[in-house]
Amino acid sequence: MSKNFYITTPIYYPSAKPHMGHAYSSIVSDVIARFKRLDGYNVDFLTGTDEHGLKIQRAAEEKGIDAKKFCDEISKTFRNLSKTLNLSNTDFIRTTEDRHIKSVQNLWKILEQKDQIYLSKYSGWYSVSDEAFYNDDEVNEKNGINVSTISGSKVEWVEEESYFFKLSKWQNKLLKFYEDNPKFILPVTRRNEVLSFVKSGLKDLSVSRKSFSWGIKVPSNKDHVIYVWLDALTNYISALNYPDTQDIKYKNFWPADVHMIGKDILRFHAVYWPAFLLAADLPPPKRVYGHGWILSGDEKMSKSKGNILDPLEIVDKYGLDCLRFYLLKEVSFGNDGSITQEKLESCINSDLANNFGNLCQRVISFNEKNCNLLVPENVNFEKDDLNLLNKISDNIASIRSYIDNQELSLYTNFIIDCMFQANKYFNDQEPWKKRADVVRLNTIVYVSLEIIRKVSILLNPIIPDTSLKVLDIFNLKQKHISIESIKDNKCLVSNSKLKKIGILFKKIDKND
Ligand code: MSP
Repeated sequence: MSKNFYITTPIYYPSAKPHMGHAYSSIVSDVIARFKRLDGYNVDFLTGTDEHGLKIQRAAEEKGIDAKKFCDEISKTFRNLSKTLNLSNTDFIRTTEDRHIKSVQNLWKILEQKDQIYLSKYSGWYSVSDEAFYNDDEVNEKNGINVSTISGSKVEWVEEESYFFKLSKWQNKLLKFYEDNPKFILPVTRRNEVLSFVKSGLKDLSVSRKSFSWGIKVPSNKDHVIYVWLDALTNYISALNYPDTQDIKYKNFWPADVHMIGKDILRFHAVYWPAFLLAADLPPPKRVYGHGWILSGDEKMSKSKGNILDPLEIVDKYGLDCLRFYLLKEVSFGNDGSITQEKLESCINSDLANNFGNLCQRVISFNEKNCNLLVPENVNFEKDDLNLLNKISDNIASIRSYIDNQELSLYTNFIIDCMFQANKYFNDQEPWKKRADVVRLNTIVYVSLEIIRKVSILLNPIIPDTSLKVLDIFNLKQKHISIESIKDNKCLVSNSKLKKIGILFKKIDKND
């Protein structure tokens, strides 16, 4: 089995500064990347910015700035956000970079050579906000404005010379591909949406624009720029040094294991992208996962609606790990989820401070008073001890499959349940009444420490900083920990010294 793993986030439009929806796509991808790394994989994790097209050109014009300069500035805010969110990405791609332009133009040439592209005329609807073409039956009039029924965004009528990709030819081959790869699109509800869209018939796709210039030129006709989605999707292979398909990076990491995206951009990733790749004789990615939206109230956040939640403000106020944990815990992964400050505060209090924080504090303080901050020796596991320890050790296959199927809520809930069980165990065992029975007292403390170690490792992909703070009690650093080691019920070395523990999470006083 290959031990390489490639995961990507969508590349973000630098038309405005990042919001919580962007942070969400990135954080959930990071959780998977970090888990796979902890599980011994060589992980390539890509994010970046999608800088061409009319949407960006107009945003730059509004500010009266040159498009490239405009992108340079906002792209930087996305790069900084990756740092603020503690993403473990291994690359950050910008579609205005030479490596990408070369890659897109090469893919175009191959599609042309393979007779997949022809010149004709486009007349139809276009949404600049979605950078998408819509059919007549996908457009409605609302308050005197024509809008897409799919996204709700404004559309405009376009008539111009355009190159077309022969998408209609790929309808049956795509259906066969989905059938042969039943987990290509997840979650299943999204797969069904895509299947019915493709079954309803595919029309050839306009893949160039002539009426504006902010994009990658069609190599054989400089009057046209390449459609921004053909440009943007190619980023996933540009970053692997495509067109050099013999390059080690490309060989190791393509096809991608997971393209993590929001459900609004599923059609581009699950229909157009595999069709372009199949047409160019390149393998499609293994998985496209369309997550739900973060809602602000009942609505999707967007610049035009003016209801943006700023991830930086939340990180400043509550701390990064609290935000990361909350997003994982609160949103049932795959569905939409609405986030509020009130729910965030109660999650910090109940799951982080009361459940995890409390477990760590009470076990370590008890150890300090009774075992001198040493990992106890003379331990003898009984049934209750093994029940708790094995809850994690025996479930390693399910834990891995949660991540491999992107069942992030199952993963998170499993951890929360372990913390709860561990607190209950410590209460029920009442080690403070066992001072006369050293072996029993030692065993309870040892088991509790082991569970803290295991839970902290499982939490590492979600809240890396806090997890490392806790693991540091055992003198364990990032490079020492692995998923495999959670199988071991006796990993901690007796008589090794523990460090004291500081406060992990401050409880939020609702009256503050
Ligand atoms: N540039 C394209 C993606 C190209 S990928 C080859 C794009 N950019 S975007 O900036 O508009 O959105 C990027 C991602 O953020 C999408 O996956 C989108 O679903 C996600 N989100 C934007 N708003 C969101 C929420 N309110 N909630 C969750 N994610 C949403 O599309």
